[in-house]
Amino acid sequence: MRIYKVKDYKEMSRKAANIIAAQVILKPDCVLGLATGSTPEGIYEELIEGYQKGDLDFSAVRSVNLDEYKGLAPDNNQSYRYYMRTKLFDHINIKAENYYLPDGMAKDDQEECTRYDNVIRTLNGVDLQLLGLGLNGHVGFNEPADHFAKGTHLVKLAESTIEANSRFFESYDDIPKYAYTMGILSIMKARKILLVVNGAKKAQILKEVIQGPITPRVPASVLQLHRDVTIIADEEALSLL
Ligand code: GLP
Repeated sequence: MRIYKVKDYKEMSRKAANIIAAQVILKPDCVLGLATGSTPEGIYEELIEGYQKGDLDFSAVRSVNLDEYKGLAPDNNQSYRYYMRTKLFDHINIKAENYYLPDGMAKDDQEECTRYDNVIRTLNGVDLQLLGLGLNGHVGFNEPADHFAKGTHLVKLAESTIEANSRFFESYDDIPKYAYTMGILSIMKARKILLVVNGAKKAQILKEVIQGPITPRVPASVLQLHRDVTIIADEEALSLL
């Protein structure tokens, strides 16, 4: 694990965007694994800036997102597809046929999970996987569990995750309780992993992720076993290490 300690959110975003930019420059048709949540927003802003300046070209890039809420239509402003379009895809030259997310409106869960795993397989896997960290140690929507899930699966979201997401929804009933997520094995198969973490509220869980036992109770702890993980975290998030 390579750990970069940075001053603040801005520096974290810039450094992570530089790594993604380097990947795109080195391999213009690379497969990026992308994440949602508030943490990567600054990274996406930096990438848009890089594109606008003419430094980055996404015309051959393919991407797969980690997860999507079950039951939210693509145009629902809380869906991850909507997030990705408004925060990144609509502002760069990635082709609409080249980015993939699970389909939140799929009728058959198992079929959708198989379809998504096939998408990842057909792309020949992920070159660089960007990850945020949930407060309970989740990555994508792989919540604390008794075992590490392999491929894409439907997850019942943890109460703490539902609560953390409540800020984005008007009422409890509106908050999705299930999501499709790439499995831990799919994430671990990415050739490079980039985990970004900021803020004091994640200090305890980040310490467990980096120094604690490898356990599905802290899903991100499995990253200790990956051979090319870069963590970029700010001083607050690293304050307990
Ligand atoms: C959600 C997403 C994760 C994300 C996590 C942390 O649950 N499914 O991919 O990493 O939230 O979110 P935030 O970055 O807002 O703290």
